[in-house]
Amino acid sequence: LDNGLARTPTMGWLHWERFMCNTACDTDPHNCISEKLYMEMADMMVKDGWKDAGYEYVCIDDCWPSMDRDPKGRLQADPKRFPGGIKKLADYVHSKGLKLGIYADVGTKTCAGYPGSLGHYETDAETFAEWGVDLLKFDGCYMPKWTLLAEGYMNMSIALNKTGRSIVYSCEWPLYEWPFHQPNYTAIQQTCNHWRNFADVFDSWTSVKAILDWTAAHQSLIAAVAGPGGWNDPDMLVIGNFGLSRDQQETQMAMWAIMAAPLLMSNDLRDIDPQSRQLLQNRHLIAINQDPLGKQGNRTAKGNGFEVWERPLSEGRLALAVTNRNEIGGPSSFPLTIALLTNWYCCNPQCNATQVTPKYRELGVQNPFTPLHIMVNPTGTAVLVITPIKGQQYTPQQVKKWV
Ligand code: GLA
Repeated sequence: LDNGLARTPTMGWLHWERFMCNTACDTDPHNCISEKLYMEMADMMVKDGWKDAGYEYVCIDDCWPSMDRDPKGRLQADPKRFPGGIKKLADYVHSKGLKLGIYADVGTKTCAGYPGSLGHYETDAETFAEWGVDLLKFDGCYMPKWTLLAEGYMNMSIALNKTGRSIVYSCEWPLYEWPFHQPNYTAIQQTCNHWRNFADVFDSWTSVKAILDWTAAHQSLIAAVAGPGGWNDPDMLVIGNFGLSRDQQETQMAMWAIMAAPLLMSNDLRDIDPQSRQLLQNRHLIAINQDPLGKQGNRTAKGNGFEVWERPLSEGRLALAVTNRNEIGGPSSFPLTIALLTNWYCCNPQCNATQVTPKYRELGVQNPFTPLHIMVNPTGTAVLVITPIKGQQYTPQQVKKWV
């Protein structure tokens, strides 16, 4: 969507995967969906370096509203859990130099059964703008007919635009259309700043793998439309929770960077281990994710239980991810030769190779034919950045002949 927003993938925090629809503030005040939760996350974002690392949006997901609209037909926050209301919360978040996201639904109800926006798009867009909301996640549950999804998502996009406020528009439109037909990604890209394609992320390796496999299987369709202002959204980062091993967390962060995905963490910033924090704040991976060229990476090779993904970066550089998908054995070495890559010309005639994660190390000057041996732990990922060095170039024929 060409609204001047999300020129690089959105970065922030979103409550859903970690806190879900916990409304039990009487018994679980620390974790329930309430203004306190977002205020505390905003505090942590400033205090623990998240904001400095680029994380900016504090986002509310489902289960914030009251079950009834107000007498003027406007959505209202649950008065017990949000005594100050959303406007106050937005002011608080803004006072920290951060932005506030909110959640609504294109249909008659949200997925958790709260009031939907169907028939109220203009009112809801105006309400969110008045409150000072900076991002809207618009879910797709309870649409009376799937054929109405396109119209609904487009009308909300228009309504948000009409408010005159800068509001990032996060859609789930393609996810809800896939069961019926292949979504029109051109229309989606013109309407939304990012869009969910695939099932919700869970705190598990099975879920992260499923997202990666789906993305690779559909990359020719979906990666092509991604770019500044419009991104494929593989859902939240679950790093810092309970289900992913150290290496699996490395893989999620690396691959979300390669996929140019929004980096929306769903974890508890008040209680997160230092390793997860370092990984989520890794400036090399964040720089890849936020690269101004805005090109989404693709899986370019697969074999021996390894996968290679390539993401072209600005200044002719290339980010490369090597994932060890084996779930047996120890660290293994993957023989990598740049001439075999789709984007081999980033190293023509020479390049500098740097491994940025899981450990930073300079690999030095390479040519397209130097064999590199990259050690990767089972279910882990190594990320390299290749920087071209100018000189007399090989022709594609010369390189092909060697291959
Ligand atoms: C759907 C969405 C999730 C989350 C829940 C909330 O499942 O895909 O991301 O917003 O609804 O109910």
